[in-house]
This record gives sequence, structure tokens and C-alpha cells, in this order.
Amino acid sequence: MRILTGIQPSGILHIGNYFGAIKPILDLQGQGEVFVMLADLHALTSLQNAEALRENVRTAAIDLLACGLDPEHTTFWRQSEVAEHVELMWILTTVTPMGLMERMVAYKDKVQNGLSANVGLFTYPILQAADILAYDADLVPVGRDQKQHLEVTRDIAVKINEAYGEGTLKLPDAKISEDVAVVPGLDARKMSKSYGNTIDIFMEEKALRKRVMGIVTDSTPLEAPKDPDGSTIVDLYRLFAPPAEVQRMKDEFRAGGVGYGHFKQRLFEAVWDYYAPMRTRRDQILSKPRYVDEVLAEGARRARAVAQPTVERVWRAVGLR
Ligand code: ADP
Ligand code: TRP
Repeated sequence: MRILTGIQPSGILHIGNYFGAIKPILDLQGQGEVFVMLADLHALTSLQNAEALRENVRTAAIDLLACGLDPEHTTFWRQSEVAEHVELMWILTTVTPMGLMERMVAYKDKVQNGLSANVGLFTYPILQAADILAYDADLVPVGRDQKQHLEVTRDIAVKINEAYGEGTLKLPDAKISEDVAVVPGLDARKMSKSYGNTIDIFMEEKALRKRVMGIVTDSTPLEAPKDPDGSTIVDLYRLFAPPAEVQRMKDEFRAGGVGYGHFKQRLFEAVWDYYAPMRTRRDQILSKPRYVDEVLAEGARRARAVAQPTVERVWRAVGLR
């Protein structure tokens, strides 16, 4: 089984990104042939700053490897290094109905949120379809927000197959992680860079502690019982501590006599310990300046070896060869 996904390089990783996007992918390693691309061409639709783009791609690559992406077994590459994505995209655009693109909610959302309505942003789902179809992917793990893009990918593959013969492109299945909870931020809203309420996973110890201590709580006095349900502290602690420890914290909430500051300290320690092996790996990666480039170059080579024959097959099917 071939499992493929893409991640937009968008800067510093926070706990929400980790549990919502990174961990589900890492957990699939070993269950099939895993392909993970850094979608840098997609990033261009919303970031027009060369230095920032370079920096984001590098940070994303380092952080993913530090988190446990295993480049021995997982093909890990930059989308822009494999020209087949864009080549296939062009063919796909020629069968994609305008109406299909006009229904894309992600595009409308982005424009409503202030991104400029450029053609790249509009045709973004067709490039994503090419990302997937070029690899004959079986399974594509993505978040809920990408469900429509996966449906479109299948629609486009069907169009190609209707026009040029069954089997020209393989229809992929989406694996939507419905069970992945929305991780709350410091202010209990969804953790997001745009809300400034994040806990970043590779923060320095002092800064991390300060962030965790900054979780917004009510003014229940230390002695009084507290409600663990809906508490951001407990909800975050659940991600890092074994169930028995979570239960203990909940019991102590209800019993009273322990202040929020104490619980936050316990949460901080759990977060800090959880990411310790990843910090170590990150330091190792940073100590070898060429390592990341080598991994991505090797990944691109392996990716190309899969994408090239597929795109050839499509070129022949449509009559370009
Ligand atoms: P941000 O909202 O911080 O800008 P992105 O939109 O770049 O984050 O999200 C990148 C990935 O991380 C997406 O797959 C998204 O679903 C996931 N993600 C982001 N924030 C959270 C969160 N608070 N809880 C769960 N998943 C999240
Ligand atoms: N559009 C996806 C996102 O924003 C990223 C992406 C690009 C992707 N190409 C892909 C995801 C191919 C899955 C498969 O999250």
C-alpha cells in the first residue's frame, strides 16, 4: 500500500500541528510505503517572500526529521524538486471543469481571510491532485479541511480515465483523521499561529515554561475544588501523560487545595519530557549542516523514480507521445 501526503511548510511547529498533522503521519510509518512531500509550490500561493519561504522549508524539514520522520523508510522530498508534479498538473487542468474549482471552500475561505485571489490559489487543488496521482497513491492521510480536495482529486482522475481509458490514473482514498481532536491554545481557542496562543514544541525551557504558565484560568482560589472538564490544562495534559496521571490530576482538581500554578508546572514537565528525544535528535541534525539537504536530495531522487513512469504513461495516453 502506498501512503502519500503533503505538508505546507509554514514556520514554527506548535503542539496543535504536532498532534493534528505530524503525529498521524508518523504513526503510519511501517504500515506501507510512505511518501511525504513538503508542498513548497503550494506555499507560494500565500507567501511571497523568498527568504521566508527558504527558511520555512528548512525549518519544516528539520522539525519533521526531529519529530521522527525516518528518511530510510519514508520518501521525504520537496515538491518543487520533482518537475513531474507541474507537468501532470497541466494535463489535469485540461479535463477539470471550471464549476468544480468554483465550488472549493478552501479557496473562498482564504480569499475571505485576506489572501489575494490569484490563479495559483484557485488552481491549488489541481496541483494537489497531481501530487497524489503522479504516485498512484492508495491512501492519503489529511485533516478534515482537505476532504474536498481529495474528492476533487478522485473526480479529476475519473475524468482522465473517461477521456483516455480506464486505468490511466489510479483513484486514491482519503484517510481523514476524524478522531484527531482540535488542540486548544493558551486561551482555550483552537491553537493557531494566527491567534498567537501557541505552545511551540522546540522552545527553550524557560520560554516554554512561561508559555505554559500563561494558560488562561479562572479565579477559583487555591483551596476551592475546580472543574477539570473543559480545563485547558487537563485537555493538554491528556496529550502528554498516561491515563492514570490524567485521572490523578482530575481528582486533585475536584478535591481542591491545589492551585492552577501547580497543575501548570506538572503540565510543563510532561511537555518538556515528551519532546526530549526530539530535541536531542534536532540538535544532532543541526550539528550536521548538510544532512537535511542530503535527505531531501535522496528523497527527490526516489520520488522522481516513481512519478516519472506515471507521467510518461499519462503523456502516452493523451497522445503527447
Ligand atoms: P496554524 O493554524 O497554526 O496556522 P496550520 O493551518 O498551518 O496551523 O496547520 C497545519 C496543520 O496542523 C494542519 O493539518 C492543521 O489541521 C493542523 N493543526 C493546526 N492547528 C491545530 C490544532 N489546534 N489542533 C489540531 N490540529 C491542528
Ligand atoms: N494542501 C495540503 C494542506 O494544506 C497540503 C498538500 C499538498 C497535500 N499536496 C498534497 C496533502 C498532497 C495531501 C496530498 O494541508
